[in-house]
Amino acid sequence: MGRRRKNQVLEDVTILDIADKGQALARVNEMVVFVKGVVPGDVCDIQIKRKRKNYAEGYVTKIKELSPIRIDAKCKYFGVCGGCKWQNLSYAKQLEYKQKQVGDALQRIGKVKVDAFEPILGSENVFAYRNKLEFSFSHRRWLTQEEVDSGQVFDDVPSLGFHVPGRWDKVLDVKECHLMAEPSNAIRNRVREIALANDFSYYNLNDQVGFLRNLIVRSTMTGEWMVILSVAEDRPQDVKLILDTLVAEFPQLTSVLWVYNNKPNDTIADLDIQVHHGKDHIMEEMEGLKFRVGPKSFYQTNGPQAYELYKIARDFADLKGDEVVYDLYTGTGTIAQFVAKKAKKVVGIEYVEAAIDDAKLNAELNSIENTSFYAGDMKDVFTQELIEKEGKPDVVITDPPRAGMHADVVARLNELLPDRIVYVSCNPATQARDVQLLSTHYEVKKVRPVDMFPHTHHVESVALLERKATNE
Ligand SMILES: C[S@@+](CC[C@H](N)C(=O)[O-])C[C@H]1O[C@@H](n2cnc3c(N)ncnc32)[C@H](O)[C@@H]1O
Repeated sequence: MGRRRKNQVLEDVTILDIADKGQALARVNEMVVFVKGVVPGDVCDIQIKRKRKNYAEGYVTKIKELSPIRIDAKCKYFGVCGGCKWQNLSYAKQLEYKQKQVGDALQRIGKVKVDAFEPILGSENVFAYRNKLEFSFSHRRWLTQEEVDSGQVFDDVPSLGFHVPGRWDKVLDVKECHLMAEPSNAIRNRVREIALANDFSYYNLNDQVGFLRNLIVRSTMTGEWMVILSVAEDRPQDVKLILDTLVAEFPQLTSVLWVYNNKPNDTIADLDIQVHHGKDHIMEEMEGLKFRVGPKSFYQTNGPQAYELYKIARDFADLKGDEVVYDLYTGTGTIAQFVAKKAKKVVGIEYVEAAIDDAKLNAELNSIENTSFYAGDMKDVFTQELIEKEGKPDVVITDPPRAGMHADVVARLNELLPDRIVYVSCNPATQARDVQLLSTHYEVKKVRPVDMFPHTHHVESVALLERKATNE
């Protein structure tokens, strides 16, 4: 297929499978074609937009036949919002594709044999599973198809909700999101009402002016709720009006915070957060262990499923009590503390200093005395010097970000050769890459995918790597 046929349209193409990153895959005359927004079994026309040597990328111009595996999406914003791309697939199918994604990556990229590939652990809650949602205010709203079809003029109508994919400047006004339990929707809708009643301006993302900017709602399994209102104009009296109303109407709120943010970006990590009501954090609890969740702290967003994930990691680590364990990419030290009772000592390493402060505080709170925590870039902190100070690891638990482990960190593991490595990953492709780099010395004993994010293509995967006998 030459250059001149780049913009060709392929007609009546049957979608065959789900590929990496939740894309759909078809095969036309030996050429693999990737598209978005369709599911296996759909028949569609595809406009090719980019061609490579072995594959092409396109977009669907028309769906001719709907796949029998499709179901009706629950959410009225499905297809516009972009948050839950797989809501039109049954949960069983979603799990099947996630399991396959992990298996394919290990086979194709990792090129490793897995002794036991265990079935994916689905999430008990497929809706209302998130403990954190972040909404944006925008002076200009993204219109739904219904609104466009109505013929009404919606110039500069403010909105509070989610950015639509690929549009940083427009926000979909969301009245109901099924991803978080109530009162998440009620809080957001009340803030919208107060703002409209008082004519408070919404942030203009282009010109970077306007009062109301972001609203973050967080909760924990203990039933504590946090709200963080981010404003771009210093108007404490108006902030007070909004937050007093929330405090009066939502007794669940144990931490009501606000922040003044007039920077070009939305992050609050580098700002002073003000406490309006209650505590400056909410508390999470697992097996009697307490974890402080501050406004800037990372915490796994599906609480009950995080507990399951940690149990699997602990189970794979198979600790007897005399091991030196390293918890790489420890965040606020949750896994480190979760396994500490079963280890001689646990050393946690993490990039974000505030998270390490929280990890230390949490260890104190839980009277755990056999953990130590270090802040810094993994490749600079997980060094021979640290090993000399803290001891050689018998077991390493690693839970890196999507990019996986830095090559230097993998090289360090290949030097240190702990007996077991438990690799927790949110990206099967980078997990498979790193597993391959470790495969001279390690075999993959078990893998168990875990679903933390129903209706998305994201999947977590826990792999147990055991040192090969020849290295002993
Ligand atoms: C997937 S999270 C895991 C958090 C933790 N294990 C948990 O379950 O809460 C990955 C963590 O790696 C940290 N991180 C990212 N890049 C890093 C690096 N180069 N060095 C050290 N930590 C890093 C992030 O800040 C984040 O806390």
